[in-house]
Amino acid sequence: MAIVAIVYHSGFGHTKLQAEAVHRGARSVAGVEARLYTSEEGISKLDELDQADAIIFGCPTYMGNISAEMKKFIEVAAKKWFTQSGKTRWPARSPIHPRFPAIN
Ligand SMILES: Cc1cc2nc3c(=O)[nH]c(=O)nc-3n(C[C@H](O)[C@H](O)[C@H](O)COP(=O)(O)O)c2cc1C
Repeated sequence: MAIVAIVYHSGFGHTKLQAEAVHRGARSVAGVEARLYTSEEGISKLDELDQADAIIFGCPTYMGNISAEMKKFIEVAAKKWFTQSGKTRWPARSPIHPRFPAIN
């Protein structure tokens, strides 16, 4: 069973709808267990996220950049994931987020 986690931040609900659609799509695939987290939930469940085979990130663009809440998640997660070996985490790059940084 492959685990796919979706971590999102949504200020006004649009990204939430998209994340829920991605969650529905992922869980419709045979052999996939899909888990949906807000970025806030993700911060408190980093050990659970470690179990994921893939993590899909979603957030709005605010003032030309990723939302502050998603940046907070990345910075908290980076402290943990930078120290791990054997796993590479690359946030997916959305066309409207050309500067979405890599966690590694
Ligand atoms: C304060 C603020 C700043 C925004 N800045 C941008 C921006 O720089 N570029 C862009 O394409 N959209 C921008 N938007 C639009 C949002 O990214 C867009 O409405 C998004 O779908 C909101 O997602 P959400 O409902 O999940 O918060 C901005 C919206 C707000 C409220």
